[in-house]
Amino acid sequence: MNVLLIGSGGREHAMAWKLAQSSFLTQLFVAPGNAGTAQVATNLKLDVTNHDAVSRSIKKHGINMVVVGPEAPLVDGLVDHLLDCGKHPELVVVGPRKEGAQLEGSKAFAKAFMRRHNIPTAGYGSFDGTQVDEAIAFLDTMKPPYVLKADGLAAGKGVIITEDLEEAQRVIRNMLSGESFGSAGERVVIEEFMDGIECSMFAVSDGKAYHLLPSAKDYKRIGEGDTGPNTGGMGAVSPVPFMDAEFHEKAINQIIIPTVKGLAADGIPYNGFLFFGLMKVGGDPYVVEYNCRLGDPETEVIMPRIQSDLLHLFENMGAGLLSEYHLQIDPRTCSTVMLVSEGYPGAYKKGKTISVPERLEKDALLFHAGTSTSRGNAVTNGGRVLACSAMAANPENALKKSYALADSISFDGKHCRRDIGQDLL
Ligand code: AMP
Ligand code: GLY
Repeated sequence: MNVLLIGSGGREHAMAWKLAQSSFLTQLFVAPGNAGTAQVATNLKLDVTNHDAVSRSIKKHGINMVVVGPEAPLVDGLVDHLLDCGKHPELVVVGPRKEGAQLEGSKAFAKAFMRRHNIPTAGYGSFDGTQVDEAIAFLDTMKPPYVLKADGLAAGKGVIITEDLEEAQRVIRNMLSGESFGSAGERVVIEEFMDGIECSMFAVSDGKAYHLLPSAKDYKRIGEGDTGPNTGGMGAVSPVPFMDAEFHEKAINQIIIPTVKGLAADGIPYNGFLFFGLMKVGGDPYVVEYNCRLGDPETEVIMPRIQSDLLHLFENMGAGLLSEYHLQIDPRTCSTVMLVSEGYPGAYKKGKTISVPERLEKDALLFHAGTSTSRGNAVTNGGRVLACSAMAANPENALKKSYALADSISFDGKHCRRDIGQDLL
């Protein structure tokens, strides 16, 4: 089977690494990929926003399966194009159509979906550009801190939380005028604040059945002790000690099953990943957000824990046979520490030569994120550069190995958080 994986981050390197081990794989292509995916697959220079170009590449390379890593192509309708163009009748696609991707692409859609299917989440109101006065009036009925969300994709920056009513009013006016988040902010969701701890669950679904993938916690802020601006994620740990069996059970019954059933009841086909961003409030799970893909860097701790053949899982998904599949998970802990470029999540320099030890310690895995190859060398090519993953019997030892790997790598301006997972020990 020939597989095309779309994306270029640490998530895609981790998936490519896992897919490359499949006994069902003939050739793996990654578009556009990075210096890490080039070690396990063939990188294709492909503009994935050009749906016809992706379609031509599928024909040219005899691709049987497309796996979409990031959310933008899903929300943009790449899957609909590939399935509806009539050129790839046998193609299996891992990733939902545009309609299902609205779970991530529109906060208002996701909130209405949860309300409709009685899925626990924060109370909210949703307003468009013609409803500025209504939005301000609704805000007056809320208690601080105020949680304000731009409706559309905003690369993790579309959520503003503030204690200050006047600032909240200003943010709403700016969003609704399209000033602060462009078209993504032309609708806003105003939400109740949930006071709890965040964690994530992941599933793969064929629209009828689902399989849980390992749970994870990620560390979003740039600064130690969860301070400073949000990033894509500075590290992750799986499993999460505070997500006990009772919490899992509640999340499955109150959130995951109702979500899969809700999609089916609404007539929304869904082949792909479901990412449940959860808040644990007094022992109970609430949905903070849905994503229609796997997390990054969560994937860098999920993939090493999957013992089953990932491609076989995807084939079962594509055939609608997920319910018959048994997924084997490694009970050990996997942690990852992100090495980022100095300045990230603000402006940073690219093109710094990366030096990596020739041999990695047992159970240590280095996944490339923002890297590329220049004259045979790996160089930095993004804010998040490398994910230093490691497996061990417990979080303490996994983290020790992740940090040993992080410390053995050098590039100009290398930075990481030193406290990943410390709250879990
Ligand atoms: P989102 O993009 O919806 O996941 O929001 C980004 C981040 O904002 C989340 O990871 C939470 O840390 C925080 N957040 C979002 N919604 C809420 C809420 N209702 N209460 C508390 N924190 C929230
Ligand atoms: N690490 C969070 C995300 O992928 O959205």
